[in-house]
Amino acid sequence: MPATVVVGAQWGDEGKGKIVDLLAQTSDLVCRYQGGPNAGHTIVVDGETWKLRQMPSGVVSGTTSVIGAGCVVDPEVFVSEVDLLAERGIDPAVVVLSGNAHLIMPWHVTIDQASERRLGKLQIGTTRRGIGPAYADKASRIGIRVQDVLDAKILRQKIEVALAEKNLWLERVYEAEGFDLEEIWARFAGYAERLAPFVGDTSLLVDEALRDGKRVLFEGAQATMLDLDHGTYPFVTSSNPIASGAPTGIGIGPTRIDRVLGVAKAYVTRVGEGPFPSEIEGPLQARLRDLGGEFGTVTGRQRRCGWLDLVALRYAVRVNGITSLAMTKLDVLSEFAELPVCVRYRSRDGSETPHFPAHQSDFHHATPVWELLEGWREPLEEATTLAELPPAARAYVEFVSQELGVPIELVGVGASRERVLA
Ligand code: IMP
Repeated sequence: MPATVVVGAQWGDEGKGKIVDLLAQTSDLVCRYQGGPNAGHTIVVDGETWKLRQMPSGVVSGTTSVIGAGCVVDPEVFVSEVDLLAERGIDPAVVVLSGNAHLIMPWHVTIDQASERRLGKLQIGTTRRGIGPAYADKASRIGIRVQDVLDAKILRQKIEVALAEKNLWLERVYEAEGFDLEEIWARFAGYAERLAPFVGDTSLLVDEALRDGKRVLFEGAQATMLDLDHGTYPFVTSSNPIASGAPTGIGIGPTRIDRVLGVAKAYVTRVGEGPFPSEIEGPLQARLRDLGGEFGTVTGRQRRCGWLDLVALRYAVRVNGITSLAMTKLDVLSEFAELPVCVRYRSRDGSETPHFPAHQSDFHHATPVWELLEGWREPLEEATTLAELPPAARAYVEFVSQELGVPIELVGVGASRERVLA
């Protein structure tokens, strides 16, 4: 299967990084198609922990790694990760960056923070890295792209145009300090030398790789429920993490995608605000959070925890065209005698539905209909194949697969790459 999209099937933090890292071993190219350094992904390889924000996870294996046009790039984060690669003995030349990707400028970060403060109780709970404001400027056509940095004159013009509006906005609306044209220009022109060696025609590169029969992996950041169009708006990110974002963000046709692998945790977590029907009530939530180490990779934020939600997963299967699933962190559930799984939502009028509500108010008021599955209460450390899992753990995986009508081809039972059973 030459072209595979790996997509988060829940609200993010499903452990995609590890799955991508695993698949990257047999891929020729790994591509990120949307998002920026929003949060981060953790990958453990040979006992060494990598926390990456901007780069595709595949980079830790030294695989050619593409950052596509649909991404937003914070040059400071990009350069620091390039340096990290070099420090750890990976040639950064494996990274190819689209000149069409948009830059996260310092005002985007300031606006992200100020607008969240301003929203107060209504805040989205963003990662405050400037992602939303950078995409907003892209859509408004006043964004600054990677290729602009390579021409000092164009760069200055673009910064000037942007600042004419942003400084007014910052000072008058957010009562924040504006930015100085000369200072920003000098700083960003300074990135030219660091970015230039990585800039390439990523659409052509991926197209040629596919034509040559190479194996290309498209790595979604964030997740289905955070998709700008199909997620739980407004509690979403500002790009399209779903699988169809891959061809758009890279610049290839949708007919080129062969396979969509959804990644879902054996339970659910969510950071930030917004409705969450299967959120666990009471002290069990904190217990699951501690067992799963559910704290942000970079931000350290506590993640909200819930039992597996098959209504939301069924929706993810639909909107992504998921052809198979990877279930991660099954080992985290080993401590519980019983495992509730949300199989349907109950609406306000008492009716039940297996489908994700199309209307936000219905989702806000949805309550879970649980099916109680038996726990296994034994560690999964010994298992080296799916067949060696305790019968109740196997039954859990089987139940999810049956309910969703898709095969589960990988199951994660520990932090390292080796602890993924096929
Ligand atoms: P933004 O992407 O920073 O604008 O944040 C928008 C929403 O997406 C917030 O609810 C964030 O918590 C969430 N989000 C963004 N990136 C991630 C991620 O990598 N994992 C989980 N949630 C994320």
